[in-house]
Amino acid sequence: MEPYEDRSPRRPWVVGVSGASGTPYAAAVVRALLAAGEAVDLVVSRAARLTLLDETGIRFRDAHWQEDLRAWLALGADGKPHFEADVSGVRYWPAGDLAAGPSSGSYPVRGMLIVPASTACVAGVALGLSKDLLQRVASVTLKERRPLIVAVRETPLSGQTLKQLVALDEAGAVVLPASPAFYAGATHIQDLVDFVAGRVLDAAGVPHRLYRRWEGELGGASASGARGES
Ligand SMILES: Cc1cc2nc3c(=O)[nH]c(=O)nc-3n(C[C@H](O)[C@H](O)[C@H](O)COP(=O)(O)O)c2cc1C
Repeated sequence: MEPYEDRSPRRPWVVGVSGASGTPYAAAVVRALLAAGEAVDLVVSRAARLTLLDETGIRFRDAHWQEDLRAWLALGADGKPHFEADVSGVRYWPAGDLAAGPSSGSYPVRGMLIVPASTACVAGVALGLSKDLLQRVASVTLKERRPLIVAVRETPLSGQTLKQLVALDEAGAVVLPASPAFYAGATHIQDLVDFVAGRVLDAAGVPHRLYRRWEGELGGASASGARGES
């Protein structure tokens, strides 16, 4: 018998963008995944369109997702275009499409990164609500025992959300608060965004050069700055 050959080599990361503040985090994660040669399946919740509009002025349209995504990924955290992104490695699924590929465990994916994750999304995933495609993919990711990284963004956190985050941790997800650190020598807002995005990629095991790693030397950051500037 001929050895079995997998004819569907595309195995993307699903990036779910929910309606918490932090659309620059999502852009940084998608850019870095594409730069690492990873394929991306993208789901943007209804509420995330509002945060995107608020934070970037971009009105994200299903029918023109490539154009709108290119414009989004081009933006730095200062709202100005700094990047050029080739979105040909991205497959976009509308959040209302519950028949989309990733809604089934048989659709090949590596795992899911929810960046940023709203507390509503945390609650929905913790309860297994599957109220839209984003939450359904998260439930599928957990049931298939694939990596699920949840970059929650809210402050302060209620006891209810804290319990739901513990439930996600116990279910196997990585709870990764969108909380930048300052030891990597940030000199721009983008450095803080890239730190969080880099920690998301670390949790997923995807190589990147988004931030300078701690090297065991106090004061290293102030000596050079993240971008080598004075
Ligand atoms: C401008 C704006 C910023 C928001 N920021 C946050 C936030 O940082 N964290 C959060 O949990 N919810 C935030 N919300 C509320 C969520 O969008 C809301 O709970 C929504 O129902 C989330 O739905 P989703 O999880 O389906 O995307 C924000 C809403 C708006 C309009």
